[in-house]
Amino acid sequence: MAKAKRGMRRGLTAYGDEEFSLFLRKAFIKAMGYSDDALERPIIGITNTYSGFNACHRTVPELIEAVKRGIMLAGGLPVEFPTITLHEAFAHPTSMFLRNLMAIDTEEMIRAQPMDACVLIGGCDKTVPALLMGAASANVPAIMLVTGPMLTGDHKGERLGACTDCRRFWARFRAGEIDAQEISAIEAKLAPTAGTCMVMGTASTMACVTEALGMMLPGGACIPAVMSERMRNAEATGARAVAIAREGLTPDKIMTPDAFENALTMLLAIGGSTNAIVHLAAMAGRLGIEIDLDAFDRMGSKTPVLVDLKPTGQHYMEDLEKAGGVVTILRELRPLLKTKALTITGKTLGQNIDAALPAWKQDVVRPFKNPIFRNGGIAVLRGNLAPGGAIVKQSAATPKLMQHEGRAVVFDSLEDMAARIDSPALDVAPDDILVLRNAGPKGAPGMPEAGYLPIPKKLAQQGVKDMVRISDARMSGTAFGSIVLHITPEAAVGGPLALVKSGDRIRLDVAKRRLELLVSDAELAARRKKWKAPKARTGDERGYRKLFLDTVQQADRGCDFEFLTRPVTARAPAK
Ligand code: FES
Repeated sequence: MAKAKRGMRRGLTAYGDEEFSLFLRKAFIKAMGYSDDALERPIIGITNTYSGFNACHRTVPELIEAVKRGIMLAGGLPVEFPTITLHEAFAHPTSMFLRNLMAIDTEEMIRAQPMDACVLIGGCDKTVPALLMGAASANVPAIMLVTGPMLTGDHKGERLGACTDCRRFWARFRAGEIDAQEISAIEAKLAPTAGTCMVMGTASTMACVTEALGMMLPGGACIPAVMSERMRNAEATGARAVAIAREGLTPDKIMTPDAFENALTMLLAIGGSTNAIVHLAAMAGRLGIEIDLDAFDRMGSKTPVLVDLKPTGQHYMEDLEKAGGVVTILRELRPLLKTKALTITGKTLGQNIDAALPAWKQDVVRPFKNPIFRNGGIAVLRGNLAPGGAIVKQSAATPKLMQHEGRAVVFDSLEDMAARIDSPALDVAPDDILVLRNAGPKGAPGMPEAGYLPIPKKLAQQGVKDMVRISDARMSGTAFGSIVLHITPEAAVGGPLALVKSGDRIRLDVAKRRLELLVSDAELAARRKKWKAPKARTGDERGYRKLFLDTVQQADRGCDFEFLTRPVTARAPAK
């Protein structure tokens, strides 16, 4: 069998003469000042996801330096290269729209350039799944390094964290409880350092889940971005990248159904972001693994929420780090884990847990027998309104609203909601159910984090803090409330959500896992006959947007493009 090509000999540019291709490549790389000795070393790519628009990645340049140090200490040659970067607040129409583009960029740049392994540096929400999706498809040895969470800010002696407290204070501002001067002061305190949101939002969730998945060094998820330990973690990641290059430890050997089950267990136990389900489905889909939503829901009945972090609890990521980080959670979850799953260390998850420092007294991660929330944080709903499924983060919801029947108040689009939600003329009462549609993968497009519908101003001013809200959109992992998301199929492709009319009755029963539109089948059939797909918008006809609209799949398939997934050969969790 031909020996696999390594280093500079990998993926030669096609000139029809391989020796010439290598000669030419070496001639050009020597212009970077490398010696022959350097070029014979394992070549380790490093994704540079720095951008002046991405404060969550502000420390990427110094992380790259630390990674390079680790690579060189281990005998490799580091080569950084740019990829797309995405920040939640700087991606129009929504970062989810661009996640697949970043994944394609990552995959093709890993494949196109001669690297024996790759260090993936990400952090802000969509970047971690995008990098892992790309690396999984390229299937070159790869290791994840996250930028790490921000430290907390404070306002009048109260700790603040992006973005749970962004939403909380914004709701108070909308309700007239705080004025413009105070909200402006708070704006300057919510993101006080470099790093990712320091609550259990999507970035923190994806970091914890990736450590459980085995694609990151143990202890890597929770170290704050600005701590010196983060640099040492980066150096160790660089050194390990050289080892996985030598060992040929490719992502498909780590990202197995068992590893995804461990990731899902972690997701439930941390009360993590609902977005992680979409991302894990997309990552798994790259390897021909389907996330079984109903089996995931059953996992919830035996997986308690253990981590006392905002938005479900009271602490922040720096507190979780002080409590020992992810291994403190893994230790409690051990009976539920697939401990034989291989990880990036070359050892199993169980061996990594055994190798960690012994536990100490702390109050951030609860013991398995004394959880924050007895059942998993996320429930999967079905019913005539969501035949393909919907989810609700019950651990962040008002318990009494988890069984609720109410009158629908329908918003046809994000624009419609923006135009009417605060209108004094809006016919809405606290017991109503707010419905937002055409905000799904194709409808918006990009399935924005619009599922956290604001409480209509006139109700907020009466003191209403929560209502049942349902949509085909997503929700930020930092948000909270009685919110049903990811209704599948979405309205824009003719899902039943498209047929709801204001005034219809809707019943939510989380205990029974049901979401029902209380309208007869005959009436729904009549409405379906009259339904028309939303009109194409300017810009839908060309470019990446056309590719997105033509090929994006629904939330249950991770909103990945059809042509990027592999045929399903396995399921996670296993039945
Ligand atoms: Fe980047 Fe929250 S905006 S992690």
